[in-house]
Amino acid sequence: MQPQTILDAIDELPRIQLARKNTPFEEMPRLRAAIAESMDADIEAVPQLFIKREDTTGFAFGGNKARHMEFLFAHFIERGIDTIVNINHYDSNNARFVAASCARTGMKYHWVAHDMVDAPVAGNMLIAHLAGANIHRVPDQPTARSLAEQINAEETRNGRNSTVLSHNPFYDIAGMIGFLETGSELDRQTQEAGLADDPLHMWGLCGRSIGGIRLYARNTGKPWKATAVAQQLEFPKTYEGIYLDRSARVAHLLGLDTALDPGDITTIAGYTGTYGYTTEGAIAAIHLVASTEGIMLDPNYTGKSMSGLIGEVKSGNVDPEVPVVFIHTGGLPQTFAFADELWNWQPH
Ligand SMILES: Cc1ncc(COP(=O)(O)O)c(C=O)c1O
Repeated sequence: MQPQTILDAIDELPRIQLARKNTPFEEMPRLRAAIAESMDADIEAVPQLFIKREDTTGFAFGGNKARHMEFLFAHFIERGIDTIVNINHYDSNNARFVAASCARTGMKYHWVAHDMVDAPVAGNMLIAHLAGANIHRVPDQPTARSLAEQINAEETRNGRNSTVLSHNPFYDIAGMIGFLETGSELDRQTQEAGLADDPLHMWGLCGRSIGGIRLYARNTGKPWKATAVAQQLEFPKTYEGIYLDRSARVAHLLGLDTALDPGDITTIAGYTGTYGYTTEGAIAAIHLVASTEGIMLDPNYTGKSMSGLIGEVKSGNVDPEVPVVFIHTGGLPQTFAFADELWNWQPH
């Protein structure tokens, strides 16, 4: 189908303005050369590397979820919702974006953070606090779930139109819709870079964002494949089904020609570590990308995704003839919560 038909369908949806769009598309030649050098190989052994800078969306320090929230919060406004209760990790980027979006739309926000109760306030939690979030720190998910229900019931009793975010089915697909648009930006930007109609390899993390880009490619006939690195251990097992389900819902809502098929996105594990903690590979990748390209990645998401890309290139599992587009989805405020690990790291 025509790209414009997809954009027209998106235009029909309620939406608020939060993200700075048309994020940069850049090449990373020095990173490519450094990876080749570390392999003792010619530059041709490493694919040409590009990066889509979704970290530069601006809102609340930037990141992919600024696009997601544009549709999610318009959906809430349409339904008269005025209070959001969110259950999420101590270092959740989602919780930061929901906080800033609540501030922007005048909603009340409770974030029940369900782990790392003793970790110092930094990064996302600090920003959420600045944006006016009511933050409740509890040690585990069952406690978080029951507290969230309790808060939701109390807010409702007090006459507010409150919702628990994870109960909302639209939440699952809002980000994929936002990233159909990223797909159309990439379409234009790759054409401008002389890569029109070439096979490309999109590289990101398991989630709505890479799903939306792949869905765009599938519907417009672009020869783009996609690899998603798992940031949680259970993801590769469950994510294939999640992609099919979510993309079918987006396709239905927007009248797209097709949803995703099994195999449209390859999910890989092995670079995950423990969720919420960084990995040796992510720290090394952050150093390498920062010191060759001046581009910052984060310790919990994009650093792991890049360590996956570097690891798979070195293992010979990435076709060097197909340029890779690394989707930088943001997460940068969490960098400062890992200052010691980043500072003390020594190259081997
Ligand atoms: C920085 C970052 N990148 C990627 C993801 C993957 O998920 P999604 O694409 O659904 O946002 C997350 C999820 O929390 C994230 O915080």
